Parts: sequence; structure tokens; C-alpha cells
Amino acid sequence: MSTKPLRVLVLTCSTRPGALGPAVGRWLLDAITARAAQLGAELVPVALSDLDLPLLDEEEHPSSGVYHQEHTRRWSAMVDAADGFIAVTPEYNYGMPASLKNALDYLGREWAWKPIGFVSYGNTSAGTRSVQHAKQVVTTLRLVPLGATVAIRLGDAVEDGRLRPDPARDAIATGLLDELVRVAHALRPMRDAARPDARPGPLPGSSLRPLTGDDAPEVTVLQRCCWVDEAIVNDTLDIPALHEPLDEVRDWLATWHTLGLWRDGRLLGMVRARRDDTDWHVGRLAVAPDLRGHGLGRWLLRTIEAAAPPACRRILLFTGLKSLRNIDLYQSEGYRTLPSAPSDDVTRLAKDLPR
Ligand SMILES: Cc1cc2nc3c(=O)[nH]c(=O)nc-3n(C[C@H](O)[C@H](O)[C@H](O)COP(=O)(O)O)c2cc1C
Repeated sequence: MSTKPLRVLVLTCSTRPGALGPAVGRWLLDAITARAAQLGAELVPVALSDLDLPLLDEEEHPSSGVYHQEHTRRWSAMVDAADGFIAVTPEYNYGMPASLKNALDYLGREWAWKPIGFVSYGNTSAGTRSVQHAKQVVTTLRLVPLGATVAIRLGDAVEDGRLRPDPARDAIATGLLDELVRVAHALRPMRDAARPDARPGPLPGSSLRPLTGDDAPEVTVLQRCCWVDEAIVNDTLDIPALHEPLDEVRDWLATWHTLGLWRDGRLLGMVRARRDDTDWHVGRLAVAPDLRGHGLGRWLLRTIEAAAPPACRRILLFTGLKSLRNIDLYQSEGYRTLPSAPSDDVTRLAKDLPR
């Protein structure tokens, strides 16, 4: 699982002057901030009134992702960067406020596979009809509404425009955050597969995407377990992929073009490449040991070869002197072994790229 903190937008939905919503939002942040730190979640307060979203004014359907208005692009970037949401919402005429419906309608893909929890408030219903209304809308967007809710009856809870302290309510809010974080982690593989930079992989349910520094923990685990076999066949522990600490992995992920093959949140394989003048240096081709023999390594190799910049004339890679299985794979893909000096401790291979 990634160590990247979860980003949770706390949406204050009412927009009218003098609304109670900001006070409810402030109470919520006070109640859950300490727990958020324990859970590794970052809370980002967002007042819908600050977004300046007019009634939906985009020409294209939101599923197109084509946004002409600056306010939509700003809102899209905020929602896209989030892992989950808590909507602090009143009930207006037995439903959610138009501001929330409008903010939901603006976007599509950005909401998908993220949990949403509700903190509602109102008169006798404590805003629960607003939540029921919102739940049937959000599922269309592939938002995942939580079972946990906080429902506040204004008559019981408000004094001088503020919420009266109530430890029981604080505990319910903390429980909502706990559930939100668990669901957000569980949905992460779904979010990953739906990223705009992901494309289907060769196994059903798998997806390929560029890796970044945030993926360093999974990369470190994969390469350590993969290069154990290399250490055994070559009878050496002097292999960088076996030793690199997390920071070094994060550093090279920032400078190499690295592709990762994922399924259900697990990194199944990877390969990296970097241009050096007219050479395309390929390396760190790895497939999880239990998935070898399915053609994943060959698929990853061909995929990274196809990503070579037009200026490159040759692909270069190297492997252990005794890594015969790797050498067989590369030769069957058209690589030739380059002449080596007696002091070389690796086999270098190359393949010309068509001009
Ligand atoms: C347009 C409007 C409609 C409302 N409809 C309901 C309702 O259906 N159920 C309810 O319990 N309270 C309703 N109320 C009362 C609100 O719960 C109460 O005014 C609350 O403070 C509204 O939230 P806000 O101050 O953040 O806008 C309504 C209030 C407004 C302004």
C-alpha cells in the first residue's frame, strides 16, 4: 500500500450569507483533525461558496473531460487530487442544496472510486433526507457513499450560532473519518486503474501506468524479491536492486521513465528506460516471481521499447553473466550480445531501432 497521505476534502455545501454551514464545518475539523493525523489523512477544507461555480455552464458532457471554463478546470484539479470527501450539508426542501448538486454535476471521472461521507444538519430530520437524496446521485458518479453519517438536529445542537460541545457527536465524526480512510484505501486500486495515464495491461483487470516517487515502497519490495533469484544464479549480493533504500528508489523514479503493471493494488511488474544520446537504456525489468511464465516480461519489454524517443538508434540493456533465462528472453526479442572484456561482471545486449 502506498505511503502517500490520503487527501480528504471537507466540503462546506451551503453558500447563503449567514449560513450555519461554516460553523458546522469548523466543529467537524476540530473534532477530527487529531484522528486524521493518526490515520495519515490530510484534511482540506473547501467552501463551495469560494469556488465561484455558476450553474453548470460547460458545453460538453462532463464525461468528456473537456472543460472550457477556468472555474471548471480549477474544481477538476481539486477533486482529481482528492482521495475522499466529507460533505457538510444542510437539507433544503427535503433534498440536498443546489450548490452541492451543481458542484457534483460539473465533473465526471474525477469523482470515481472515492468515498464520500456526510455530515448533515436540519430540523426534525437532522438533514437525513438531504443525505438520502445525495446518495442516489453520487453513486452515478461512482462515488462510494459511506454507511457512517453524522446527523445533527439543530434544535438540540445549536446555541448562539455555534454547535454546543458534544463528545458523543465528536466520537461519531471520528468514526466516520475512520470508515472513510479504510474505504479510501480499499478503493485505491480502482482509482489507479481509472487514472487518465493508465491503460489496460495484458492480464484481465491489470493496468499499466508511469511510476512516480510515490510508488517507491512497492518498487522497493518488488525489486528486492525479484533480484534474489539473480543473486542466487550469479552467486553475488553485489546487485544495486537488492540494496537500494527507499530514498534512492524515489530518486531514480524521478529521473527514469518507469512503467508499472498493477492489478488490485499490487505491483506485478515494472521496467524503466532513459535516453542517453542516441541510446535508449532499458533496465529493471521485473515480474513478480509467482507470475513468471505468462509473457509479462516480454510485454513490458516491448512496451518500453515502443516508448523510445525518435532520436534513439539503439536499445541497450544488461543482465547478470549467468542470468541465462534473461539472456534467452532478450535474444529471442532480437538483442545481440555485445563483446565483453574479461573484467566485465555483466552481459551487455543491444538491439538497433529502425530508422
Ligand atoms: C431554502 C431552505 C430550505 C429548507 N428546507 C429544510 C428542510 O427541508 N428540512 C429541514 O430540516 N430544514 C430545512 N431548512 C432549515 C435549515 O435546516 C436551516 O435553515 C439550516 O440552518 C440551513 O443550513 P445553512 O444555514 O447552512 O444554509 C431549510 C432552510 C432553507 C434556507
